[in-house]
Amino acid sequence: MQDTYLDKIYDAPDQEAKQNIYAEWSKSYDAELTSSGYATPARCAKALHQVATDFGMPVLDLGCGTGLSGEALKAEGFTTIDGLDPSAEMLAEAKAKGVYRNVEVMDTNAPLPAGYAAIAAIGVVGSGAAPLSLLDEIIAALIPGAKTVFSFNDHTLEDPAYAAHVQRYIDDGVVRELFREHGPHLPAEGIGATVYVLEKT
Ligand SMILES: C[S@@+](CC[C@H](N)C(=O)[O-])C[C@H]1O[C@@H](n2cnc3c(N)ncnc32)[C@H](O)[C@@H]1O
Repeated sequence: MQDTYLDKIYDAPDQEAKQNIYAEWSKSYDAELTSSGYATPARCAKALHQVATDFGMPVLDLGCGTGLSGEALKAEGFTTIDGLDPSAEMLAEAKAKGVYRNVEVMDTNAPLPAGYAAIAAIGVVGSGAAPLSLLDEIIAALIPGAKTVFSFNDHTLEDPAYAAHVQRYIDDGVVRELFREHGPHLPAEGIGATVYVLEKT
């Protein structure tokens, strides 16, 4: 049987290989993820909705990919969403969905943009995408009271360093945990994910 892109992305050896896979995958990503029941965007968007008071606040959809995460945020009532992703090919699909105020190709060596009331990193940090250091960048970019919603899938959670890293930020009082729940990620593949919402103190 031929490997799916999902198989390929979890096995990719480094960032360059992952970016090449995302470039090739951009046209069929939505169909493959949707057929696997991709649940994390809706779970993250609902979690952010639960703690939000201003639905017009600027939300950065970091690692927005083809825009499935932006669509989920929009469906939960958020109206001002910007998309950022290092893959121009994935981003072209996101732009076509028409749910973003702006979309921009991300320079992963540049600092994250400041001034967002919330930063979403949905299916972005960990196995198959960005390194754990992206979470440090997100937390550093938040001003007090701003929030981040993100997910770690089960492949990522196999490495205890990810959950421990989040816990350290909470224990040190840098962020307050507003939401944490393990649930479905790609149910057809039997993969779950933990969704977190943290607020900068
Ligand atoms: C699994 S996709 C998730 C896309 C979208 N958020 C969704 O829920 O469908 C992971 C995305 O992370 C992006 N990515 C990879 N490395 C990244 C990095 N260092 N910073 C931000 N995004 C990154 C990839 O280009 C890809 O579009």
